[in-house]
Amino acid sequence: MDPEPYFPTSSPSLTRWWSEEAVAVVTGGNKGIGFEVVKKLAELGVKVVLTARDTKKGEAALETLRAQGHAANVHFLVLDVSDPLSISTFASSFKAIFGATLDILVSILHTIKKRVMIYKLSQIRPHPNQKHNIM
Ligand SMILES: NC(=O)c1ccc[n+]([C@@H]2O[C@H](COP(=O)([O-])OP(=O)(O)OC[C@H]3O[C@@H](n4cnc5c(N)ncnc54)[C@H](OP(=O)(O)O)[C@@H]3O)[C@@H](O)[C@H]2O)c1
Repeated sequence: MDPEPYFPTSSPSLTRWWSEEAVAVVTGGNKGIGFEVVKKLAELGVKVVLTARDTKKGEAALETLRAQGHAANVHFLVLDVSDPLSISTFASSFKAIFGATLDILVSILHTIKKRVMIYKLSQIRPHPNQKHNIM
């Protein structure tokens, strides 16, 4: 007998809940799991902010997505989640570009001060349905 699928196709968690305007921020998006999450969200039609602490690495990741045809919905901003100044600068830039609502925050780092980041990012008003996916 086949094992039960990990994500059953009828799972309500896979139904589309976001709007055309939904914006997601992914930390550590230049490689690894973060990069794959950026790609998947973009494929799903979510506007994604790929963030990386290193400008060159972030731009290179965006270039890779462009070459793969996944960059239409992806923007890049610098964000070092261990640096309060970087977080504040990021929050200001985000607000200036996308407005004051953040719909999805995906933070894929375990060694950082997530509480500090969430606190600082709260300069951006969370969407009522905001998903905080912290891994
Ligand atoms: N891969 C797996 O199978 C797996 C399984 C279970 C758990 N995990 C956990 O999941 C997390 C991500 O795994 P991964 O394989 O995707 O790791 P990874 O390939 O090493 O990627 C980590 C990402 O986090 C970024 N980063 C590190 N410190 C940062 C900071 N202060 N500010 C902003 N970005 C920062 C890195 O940027 P730089 O490129 O600049 O270093 C990189 O983009 C890790 O905590 C890992 O332990 C992974």
